[in-house]
Amino acid sequence: MRPDHLDETPFVKLSGVHKTYEAETGNVRALDPVSFGIDRGHIVSVVGPSGCGKSTLLRILAGIDPATGGQVVIDGQEISGPVPNMGIVFQRDLLLDWRNVLDNVMLPAELARANMDETRSRAVALLSELGVGDFLNRLPFELSGGMRQRAAIARALLMRPSLLLLDEPFSALDAMTRDQMNVILQRLQQHERVTTLLITHSIAEAVFLSDRVVVMSARPGRVLDVIDIDLPTPRPLSIREEPAFAAIARRIRLLFEKEGVLAA
Ligand SMILES: Nc1ncnc2c1ncn2[C@@H]1O[C@H](COP(=O)(O)OP(=O)(O)OP(=O)(O)O)[C@@H](O)[C@H]1O
Ligand SMILES: [Mg+2]
Repeated sequence: MRPDHLDETPFVKLSGVHKTYEAETGNVRALDPVSFGIDRGHIVSVVGPSGCGKSTLLRILAGIDPATGGQVVIDGQEISGPVPNMGIVFQRDLLLDWRNVLDNVMLPAELARANMDETRSRAVALLSELGVGDFLNRLPFELSGGMRQRAAIARALLMRPSLLLLDEPFSALDAMTRDQMNVILQRLQQHERVTTLLITHSIAEAVFLSDRVVVMSARPGRVLDVIDIDLPTPRPLSIREEPAFAAIARRIRLLFEKEGVLAA
């Protein structure tokens, strides 16, 4: 196998992917042709206004919603249905109310009939690293929103997915918890190195966490720019106050202002 830095084609490649929803009440063009790549082990964020087709794009990438046209290639294979070994975290955590935290995280292992002892050790380690190691036996209702999302992230990572898809996983959290989750996710990524697509409305979150940011227009979404984030990693939260960070955030904001998505 070639070392990663010699890979010329990205692990995930979207080429001209577009989507029109057909309904009796009229068609909705959700996505204009969109193209970008995600290198192996990288985080790419998609940032764009509400309704521009971000979740649609994520569902197409997961293979759970067919594109109207274009091509999605993952690890050299064009996808034609649900992508195996993929982790997804949605805005709502979708934990099962009647299962404790550990049993919720273990659900994918049960479905895959994995080695339970080994996987349980990994579940416990992930939950500890995510800062909820003391809550393994608690039911979801006993957790705060941030803790529930941590459990959802542990569950998504449990089976070492080849692709992690995060659809606004932190948008329901308060600003301080969200910052904390950004730091935790970055730390986890330092050793998990899972190829990740993160959907977010937050310019700061996108720049902080990503190797690359895809900036999208209002519906029908099209790519306004793809920006490589060359800031060193790991990044402390204070990097957000540094000129290099602020310059990238400003560049994205100006794109939205020019499009009339944000008021100037
Ligand atoms: N199943 C569906 N059937 C018909 N139209 C849909 C369907 N899902 C999404 N749409 C439409 O496609 C467009 C894009 O929706 P999508 O959920 O992808 O946007 P989004 O960028 O994720 O928005 P948000 O930031 O609010 O989550 C919207 O206009 C929406 O109404
Ligand atoms: Mg969405």
